[in-house]
Amino acid sequence: MKSPRLIQIAHEDPQAVRNELLAGLLAPTATIAPKYLYDALGSRLFSAITELPEYYPTRTEAAIFSREMKGMANALGQVATLVDLGAGNCEKAARLFETFRVQRYVAVDISVNYLRDSLACLQREHPEMDMLGIGLDFSAALALPAEIGKGPRALFYPGSSIGNFTPAAALAFLRQAHAASLGGALLIGVDLVKPVSILEPAYDDPLGVTAAFNRNMLLHLNRLAGTDFAITDWRHVAFFNSVESRIEMHLEALRDVRVGWTGGERCFCAGERLHTENSYKWQIDDFAALLQQAGFGRLRHWTDENQWFAVFLGFAAP
Ligand code: AVI
Repeated sequence: MKSPRLIQIAHEDPQAVRNELLAGLLAPTATIAPKYLYDALGSRLFSAITELPEYYPTRTEAAIFSREMKGMANALGQVATLVDLGAGNCEKAARLFETFRVQRYVAVDISVNYLRDSLACLQREHPEMDMLGIGLDFSAALALPAEIGKGPRALFYPGSSIGNFTPAAALAFLRQAHAASLGGALLIGVDLVKPVSILEPAYDDPLGVTAAFNRNMLLHLNRLAGTDFAITDWRHVAFFNSVESRIEMHLEALRDVRVGWTGGERCFCAGERLHTENSYKWQIDDFAALLQQAGFGRLRHWTDENQWFAVFLGFAAP
């Protein structure tokens, strides 16, 4: 039986990570990139978020895929290589294998360790398929290694993670995806604008799972940057910024707080915030225009009956 090949592309240097985090803490509006929400516990908490009744994106996207899978497969044609960006437990991509007639599956995530067990399990279920796991932080640059092989690829980027990029960064990412597909295609999940009464509870649930996910970032920072954040000094804040069309997540100081680390400190006044995530909500036409600007054509999209979420397909070649 074949076994999946695993490749780790160099991890970031811990000192560079520390410097980036401390620079973010010292900025006039303290800001930390959302990727630091995901240590081992943060990833589990995110998984729990996807089960919450208020968090509609995961199940809405899954319903679109279940209902429209055949139409998507017809539009896409035979998929020689499926590259799954942010694969995690590989579940979403695995549901497509049969209908999309995938021959080669490439799972990409920040650490190859997240992929090891899921890929081994998938390989047992699909012994004939070529499988490759790549550990790569593609939020910095989508530089896929040559081991993936030549020829057009279908890139798969579900979950609306594109919403965690600013529109300018999303365009830069889509341009890289266009180049990385080598004349293939992109299938991408995008969360859409909807009433605030639906949006805000999805990011501030009554059970407090999203609050725990957000506050857990401080424990992660303490380990990575040597800071001394106390979780109990901070509360979770999430709201829809309608001017920017995004949910913003912040951590707000409950009292005057001094955060220290070797060689530095930052004082926060009560009510001052640390910005931890943006989650942009798109209009269908605006996202289609963005894909076109990035070079994708022959666009199709599928959505749910409420138009809460959309899955877009675009081709890199004319
Ligand atoms: C991963 N990403 C698409 C999620 C989102 O909805 O922006 C992260 C998240 N943040 C809070 N809840 C979920």
